[in-house]
Amino acid sequence: MKGYTVTVKPSGKSQVFPEGTLICDALLDMGIPLKTPCGGKGTCGHCRVSVTGNQPPRTPSEERILRGTPGVRLSCQVPLTGDVEIRVEERLRKKQRRVPHHGNDRPYGLAVDIGTTNVRISMVETGSGSSYHLDSFLNPQRRFGHDVISRISAASSGDVLKTMQALIRTSIFSSIADSLDALGISPERITCIAFSGNTTMLYLLLGKDVSPLGTYPYPVSAREFSSLTVRDLGETLLPETPLLILPVLSAFLGGDLIGGLALCHKNGIRKNAFFIDLGTNGELFLLDQSGLVHATSCAMGPALEGMNLSWGMTAEDGAIVHVTQGAGGLFFEIMGEIPPSGISGTGVIDLISILLEKGYIEESGVFASPADVNLPSPLSFGETDGIREIRIGNGIALTQVDVRTVQLAKGASLAASELLLKEARCSADDIEHVFIAGSFGENLNVEHFRRLGFIPEFKNASWEFLGNTSLLAAQKVCCDPRFLETATRLRDRTRELVLANHPEFQDTFIRALSFSRAPS
Ligand code: FES
Repeated sequence: MKGYTVTVKPSGKSQVFPEGTLICDALLDMGIPLKTPCGGKGTCGHCRVSVTGNQPPRTPSEERILRGTPGVRLSCQVPLTGDVEIRVEERLRKKQRRVPHHGNDRPYGLAVDIGTTNVRISMVETGSGSSYHLDSFLNPQRRFGHDVISRISAASSGDVLKTMQALIRTSIFSSIADSLDALGISPERITCIAFSGNTTMLYLLLGKDVSPLGTYPYPVSAREFSSLTVRDLGETLLPETPLLILPVLSAFLGGDLIGGLALCHKNGIRKNAFFIDLGTNGELFLLDQSGLVHATSCAMGPALEGMNLSWGMTAEDGAIVHVTQGAGGLFFEIMGEIPPSGISGTGVIDLISILLEKGYIEESGVFASPADVNLPSPLSFGETDGIREIRIGNGIALTQVDVRTVQLAKGASLAASELLLKEARCSADDIEHVFIAGSFGENLNVEHFRRLGFIPEFKNASWEFLGNTSLLAAQKVCCDPRFLETATRLRDRTRELVLANHPEFQDTFIRALSFSRAPS
């Protein structure tokens, strides 16, 4: 395969990449991550760079977004077809937030949540437990597939496992190096790095063979990861720093779920509780009346993280993050108060819920006929390439396929919840506490989320949105090493329900696809 040189101006840094490499991926590999909130669909416009040299013509989405800006390209849309020189506007580079200065001697830990779609890093003052967001970015392994199964199958061929490990390791450690540098914090003040994530993400970080995780009976080669240092990852930054990694239970239940379980336990939750971590991989546990722990997981896809939807994006500037209904029609809350360029997971949940409630979307998920309903302002029905859509404005739309994508996630999550209740011999009415975790957890509109029916009604329970418990658990590990012991003990008491090949899953899933309200 041919190779082409990418040179970054004004630094002059250059590197050769295979033909067809996307410019945004080349820049990431060169240590220049850009914001890519739409996941590279070419809809948000955040990844723009100036390009000179041999390059293919603009795509239709570039023509639409970049009109009147010659020489500028969306780096997620441009594969290398020749040598190029690139300039990145400073304001488009990812930035770190500031950490308050408390003198030079306070120890810090770093907490890293490796999600299938997003990676988040925070810094924790180990004495006080105060934490500060450092960075978040899309998992660079996404180029090998959006979900765990496609990553496992990609990692099984040739040198891809090594490439995937290098991608995640390099992106995390260059982010850490940049953050420490920007904050003026000496690396000696970092006492540990704690990692959380699902089993596949943690194995890929450690360079472990993931192929057994995708093949029945899905054996794991390690469930705990002790006595490791950064040096074991092959990194030279902070080489002696200990790695503290949350234990996993199985191929399907990783450190992220066990971390959530340990957090609930630390907060005194011991029975009649239901927890779900809504991510690309949904993970659930249930504490029954006698305090036994039952857990399972399901593939939900990245729709709720703003991916896999025509105009989906993460909650960055330009994202519609909330939709509300008022007397004059719908109102959109847009991050950054700039014209909208996409819609986030929370915005999609709001929008579908409102459209369902008013009958503009039927309980089967099908859009109502334009002849039968009048959409509220500013929405209108339309069709592009034979696919029906509800247009929001500024070129953004919710398509019939998008609703189906959300429906598949909701069906998987509701089916997994119902089968877990059945396995634990619990009724939904027995549950007293419902905990929703996920990167957007605390920003969800509860009523809209409940209307979509991702989980049973749980009408006797209090509902609480916990935010990103995977990252919170990693932060806790930094401050309290005994947290790992608690997590390991709880892991050993957990009974797993494996849904792959479960005889009732398919029928339950098909029933769970409907948006009909549960009978009360
Ligand atoms: S990441 Fe390139 S347009 Fe959104």
